[in-house]
Amino acid sequence: MSTYELEQTDQLVALYTIIRDEKTKRDEFIFCADRIIRMLVEKASEFLPTKPKEIKTPTGCTFDGREFVGKICAVSIVRSGEAMEKAARDICQKIRIGKILIQRDEKTAKPILFYHKLPEDIAERYVLLLDPMLATGGSACKAAEILKQNGVKEEKIVFVNLISCPEGINEFTKKFPKVKIITGVIDKSLNEKAYILPGLGDFGDRYFGT
Ligand code: PRP
Ligand code: URA
Repeated sequence: MSTYELEQTDQLVALYTIIRDEKTKRDEFIFCADRIIRMLVEKASEFLPTKPKEIKTPTGCTFDGREFVGKICAVSIVRSGEAMEKAARDICQKIRIGKILIQRDEKTAKPILFYHKLPEDIAERYVLLLDPMLATGGSACKAAEILKQNGVKEEKIVFVNLISCPEGINEFTKKFPKVKIITGVIDKSLNEKAYILPGLGDFGDRYFGT
């Protein structure tokens, strides 16, 4: 199974209730979205490779642990994905962050690619692809295409996402079956304007206040 949904604990549902609520003010929206995003990035890190490592503790014991292996980076789909960069930096201090600027056409909801800038050695890295909203899947597919064109192997991509829906998941997994999707919650469907239902509206507008 390539899609992982966070466990819907009461605490998590309470956070989603705040960010979904149309009455929620921006500072509380940011605070709660950041908390969920941190959980998502931590969950995504579980899919990154480790290898065995034996260490000695100050009590003289030997401990059979593990260590991180492999280079990683994050790539955000601008603008909304930028809201997830801090969480990536919080789990990996010096993480390199690439950017792919994709905007949905407001009328057709089709993704338009404007710009991308990626670490030059991205083909050697595991990639945390960051975008909070997976609606039709158009933007995420375009971003994954660019990563593949730059030499990243599909199985080394972990797509980290706050809210998804069946339409977006189906579209994305059909084209990129080896990419893992870590999503906070799978919502019901899309409306006629390709917004997620129940969703939270426009993530970027609410997070950045623009
Ligand atoms: C939003 C969101 C995704 C995309 C999802 O971005 O952040 O990138 O829509 O929709 P899709 O799955 O149908 O492609 P948008 O283009 O609205 O730009 P923004 O991040 O600046 O709000
Ligand atoms: N982008 C958003 O911000 N929200 C949606 O529901 C769909 C795309």
